[in-house]
Amino acid sequence: MMRALGFLSIMIFVALSACENYDMDMADQVSFKVQESPRLQAPVGSVTVHQERVDYADVDGVTLENLFPKNEQTLATGKKLYGIYCLPCHAADGTTSGMPVADKMDPRPADLLSEAVTSLTEGEIFHRIVEGFGIMPAYKRDLSDEEAWYVTEHVMKLQKRD
Ligand code: HEC
Repeated sequence: MMRALGFLSIMIFVALSACENYDMDMADQVSFKVQESPRLQAPVGSVTVHQERVDYADVDGVTLENLFPKNEQTLATGKKLYGIYCLPCHAADGTTSGMPVADKMDPRPADLLSEAVTSLTEGEIFHRIVEGFGIMPAYKRDLSDEEAWYVTEHVMKLQKRD
């Protein structure tokens, strides 16, 4: 009997001391409901997954440079994208010869091998692609920055400036 009582009192002691460590930290934590301020800021260096775009409208193309790697793969991607997005108006070799659509446009699409275009910097060509130029449409909704640089690379290659 005494033994059982002794055991019981030990159990009660254990149970009580467990209670002693019970606190309300989890319940009382500083937390916020969804959309409640203050909102959490994205950690420094985090990369957007929602394709937020840089607006180049007021940027001078001359100041832009391609920071993406250049290799066989990116050149091949640039060539492919040129075939999809530019070929309707600019010929595969960069000129406008033999392009039925080009003949119907006024002004005609620029000959990408002409002095006017070969004298543009890489950044200016990129800018023409993303923001458009004159009656040429802007491609910022179709091409990511990265892709537009790949197309730029391809144009530079057609101009033998790569
Ligand atoms: C719908 C036809 C069309 C498509 C598609 C098109 N362009 Fe053009 N592009 C033009 C026209 C037209 C001009 C001349 C615009 C002007 O002088 O007003 C031009 C001009 C240019 C110029 C010269 C700009 C300058 O400063 O003289 C470049 C570079 C160029 N296009 C590159 C491209 C690239 C790269 C693509 C594909 C991403 C593309 N274009 C797609 C019609 C097109």
